[in-house]
Amino acid sequence: MKPKIAIRNVSRFFDVKGGTFQALRNVNLEVGAEQFLCIVGPSGCGKSTLLRMLGGLEMASTGDISIAHDNPARPLTAMIFQQESVFPWLTVEKNAAYGLQVTNNWRGAESAERVTYFLEKTGLLKFRDFYPYQLSGGMKQRLSVARAFVTNPEILLMDEPFAALDEQNKLLLQQELGKLWEEFRSTVVFITHSLDEAVLLGDRVMVMSSAPGHIKQAFDIPFARPRDFLELRQQDDFHHLTRQMWELLRQEVEAARAQEAGRLSQERARRNG
Ligand SMILES: Nc1ncnc2c1ncn2[C@@H]1O[C@H](COP(=O)(O)OP(=O)(O)OP(=O)(O)O)[C@@H](O)[C@H]1O
Ligand SMILES: [Mg+2]
Repeated sequence: MKPKIAIRNVSRFFDVKGGTFQALRNVNLEVGAEQFLCIVGPSGCGKSTLLRMLGGLEMASTGDISIAHDNPARPLTAMIFQQESVFPWLTVEKNAAYGLQVTNNWRGAESAERVTYFLEKTGLLKFRDFYPYQLSGGMKQRLSVARAFVTNPEILLMDEPFAALDEQNKLLLQQELGKLWEEFRSTVVFITHSLDEAVLLGDRVMVMSSAPGHIKQAFDIPFARPRDFLELRQQDDFHHLTRQMWELLRQEVEAARAQEAGRLSQERARRNG
């Protein structure tokens, strides 16, 4: 079957002071329809760059990205970022409705019902008339999740959506996202620094190398759905998998640190020389 997303030999170069910097090198990956793919990798390895390309916010320098848009009635992608991306001047309800309105997909009562449904699912219905300044960080991220699900995108792109949250809120949001996704499957590409999060949520987890980033290894996650995250966290298989990933990732994190140190001393030499 044709993959939903196919990335072939994609590289990305940036112009920087004194030359070019290669952020990605020959990335190859496929994501099947309705698959939940998680990507982990050291800081600066190009994860956000890759996701921005999938969202059409950035171009590959070389290589090819093809994405199948199967149902023109659904938007192709929706993105959720780490930082708050809700509009401060709109109420919770209007924020949740925004994606449908801005794409001319507002269908009156049916859409209003959809907004209500996802606000209920994310525990925000009681706060429908609140403005973002009246919400906690966790509530704002739940609102971002609700807004994305309201538009019913074929592909959900998430860039460390829970990274800024406290531990308890993170656990709750992970489980809530897992449940929502099990109910309304779409194709997901989810970036995280948390191996636990990747294994709990994903069907597959890709570990990326340090810059220039490429895929080091893919892991299939064998756990059946629906998943009970609390229970999964207790299982030996779960620990075994995250441990295996960490051993691989650790080498890349160490390599990334060495690169950082190298860049710093080059910069110092440039300034002094
Ligand atoms: N517009 C740009 N111009 C120059 N360099 C850039 C640009 N965008 C990204 N980079 C560089 O490309 C590399 C990859 O950046 P990216 O944000 O994709 O990393 P990341 O894997 O998402 O990191 P993190 O885990 O810290 O979020 C970094 O070294 C970054 O400095
Ligand atoms: Mg990033």
